[in-house]
Amino acid sequence: MKNMRFQMAAAVAASALWLGACGNSEQAVDTVETFANVTQDRLSNAAETPAEWLTYGGTYDEQRHSLLTQVNLETVGDLGVAWTYDLGTSRGVESTPIVVDGVMYVTSAWSIVYALDAKTGEELWVYDPGVNRAVGIKACCDVVNRGVAVWEGKIYLGVIDGRLEALDAKTGERIWSKVTVDQSKPYTITGAPRVVDGKVLIGNGGAELGVRGYLSAYDAESGDMTWRFYTVPNPEMLPDGAASDAAFEEIGNVTWGDTGAWKTDGGGGTVWDSIIYDEVNDAVIFGVGNGSPWNQSLRDPSGLDNLFLSSIVAVDAETGAYKWHFQTTPGDNWDYTATQTLILANLPLGEDGGDRRVVMQAPKNGFFYVLDAETGAFINGAGYVPQNWTTGLDENGRPVEVPEARYASTPFNQTPGPLGGHNWHPMAYNPEAKLAYIPAQEIPQAYSTDPRFAEHPTKWNTGADFSAGVPALVTSDVMKFLRSGLKGRLIAWDPVANAPRWTVEHDGPWNGGVLSTAGGVVFQGKLNGDFVAYDAASGDPLWSHDVKSGAASGPGTYEIDGEQYVTITTGWGSAFALAAGFAFDEKLGPAIGKVVTFKLGAEGEIEAPYVPEIDRTPNAEPFGTEAQLADGLVHYARNCTVCHGPFAVSSGVLPDLRWSTYTESADAWKAVVVDGTLQGAGMVSFADVLSEDDVEAIRAYVIQQAHNPADAVGGMQ
Ligand code: HEC
Repeated sequence: MKNMRFQMAAAVAASALWLGACGNSEQAVDTVETFANVTQDRLSNAAETPAEWLTYGGTYDEQRHSLLTQVNLETVGDLGVAWTYDLGTSRGVESTPIVVDGVMYVTSAWSIVYALDAKTGEELWVYDPGVNRAVGIKACCDVVNRGVAVWEGKIYLGVIDGRLEALDAKTGERIWSKVTVDQSKPYTITGAPRVVDGKVLIGNGGAELGVRGYLSAYDAESGDMTWRFYTVPNPEMLPDGAASDAAFEEIGNVTWGDTGAWKTDGGGGTVWDSIIYDEVNDAVIFGVGNGSPWNQSLRDPSGLDNLFLSSIVAVDAETGAYKWHFQTTPGDNWDYTATQTLILANLPLGEDGGDRRVVMQAPKNGFFYVLDAETGAFINGAGYVPQNWTTGLDENGRPVEVPEARYASTPFNQTPGPLGGHNWHPMAYNPEAKLAYIPAQEIPQAYSTDPRFAEHPTKWNTGADFSAGVPALVTSDVMKFLRSGLKGRLIAWDPVANAPRWTVEHDGPWNGGVLSTAGGVVFQGKLNGDFVAYDAASGDPLWSHDVKSGAASGPGTYEIDGEQYVTITTGWGSAFALAAGFAFDEKLGPAIGKVVTFKLGAEGEIEAPYVPEIDRTPNAEPFGTEAQLADGLVHYARNCTVCHGPFAVSSGVLPDLRWSTYTESADAWKAVVVDGTLQGAGMVSFADVLSEDDVEAIRAYVIQQAHNPADAVGGMQ
């Protein structure tokens, strides 16, 4: 009778793939009666039931700290590969798997969901929402997905094209689907939904291309919207009939001027990652993204604070009504999102030295903040990475800016840059050690005003010039210099002392999210493929395993039949890989994303990645006047860099244009870039923003880069 349930389920799951229903005596899910039968009680008690991983951040407090101790300081060295599962994509993977009732629910690129037997990795069902690949052009940071939510037998999925969907946890069949955005605008969803008391919370992204951000709550059963909180006012500053109306009338509208591109570009403020539920104060607390466009002098020349950009906002869980906010970066000008991991904890920071419930964040802007969870009051904060845009924080936690950071035509080389001191990679917190573990990095960037700024809906348009500081011809010295500025580290931050306790230096940025365990171990993957366990108290490395692909996502842990598993999704892609091909040596290539799951004593192997051989020879002779090449650089930087890599050097996720046969002729090139012949593969036409002359200038620039001395160019292809 093994797997009968699944075979029957598969028969009715018209849209689900069914591959692996062979009898397997090890299967844990055979005894499962109800799939993802998650109630409010189970979510509230998630920390005390560490055998499962019930929400994106593990529990409502999202500490990513597990009470499991089988894998500990003494035993961690015996971890080996229990099973792996191919996610069938070479695009970015950022998913934290949910594990409940013996089943793992994990997502991959293009918002595809996989249900796996958490003990064996055997596939139970696959759900593909069937996204039109042309939507990829709207995705600032690759077509990634960070995971699902579970509630009362259903799986909730945010789809990259803006849908929120409910699936049957047992079969993968779609139960309902709601479009949560205006799909004519460049909205995307990459974040994991959260469920609070029968409401599914979901935000969106798109502020690089011009949208207005918000967080919405949908009824888990019916899919009807219950409330929406906008993060910036509408252009008329009139009520939306939404939960945010009162907040804008009282404090928000006065922080915006009467003119500027925000009126047409939506203003930004997308809620693309962190959403947590504070059960003690019955508040939903979420992080708000950057301004759209980035450049405040173009977005809103008034120079006002622009609420609620780059803020942490708390609202009533039932109604969405405003409770409090804390703005990390007033008048955002640098893509300084405050969407990064939010963590709730009790710290001895009360007036009498007693406990105080706090919320913590290390947003992109470089400062670690500790706020009162009930009121949003600033408790303490300090730079967790070097930063040069302020002289520090004032007593209210407001940054004291240096004037040069409000860039104009002269480039200002700033750190952190737009990729942040910390990005989406989940931070963790150990409540016993009282340490937050930050996946931190340094990726400086020169900002200057884009002289060609105009309103280009559905394409990148930040008002910052991405060709600023980029030399026309990149030499190996320039490459070396740029690489030397890239740093990554794991920081154990003491939020009471407001200072780091220990730091591990990595060999580059964009390393993985962190898992903390009561076994005294913290786990972090690295972009170079090493999955590492550190001593939580000292940062000493204890164990490491090469997972043969980038290991950037948040690891998880769970227990089945008395055995503890540690799991991580691997893959290559996401914002940094797309935008920084020059940063990589050739150790790692694009690889098929995987779920890699470890347990003590296991000895499985991870298949070596297949890296296609690329013919690295130019396909055309250099041409073009100096002016044309300079033009090509500017147009390339503002339209192509974010996917094909700066200097036309790709990381291998998307084609390296230097070696593209389309460079051979102006017509072939034009067919792709102007006529959109590869639209079905995600390369849409740029005819709305580029003239044929511009496109030809880009070809000249790309060919020039292809003829650069070989040692000048890094990249994976
Ligand atoms: C949002 C990401 C994105 C942006 C921005 C982008 N591209 Fe692409 N590009 C793609 C994807 C995806 C493909 C197709 C990959 C495939 O065929 O699987 C592609 C393919 C191409 C190809 C074909 C390469 C080959 O040899 O197969 C050319 C040429 C190209 N792009 C040029 C450009 C130029 C020029 C720009 C800037 C004006 C640009 N792209 C901007 C995503 C992007």
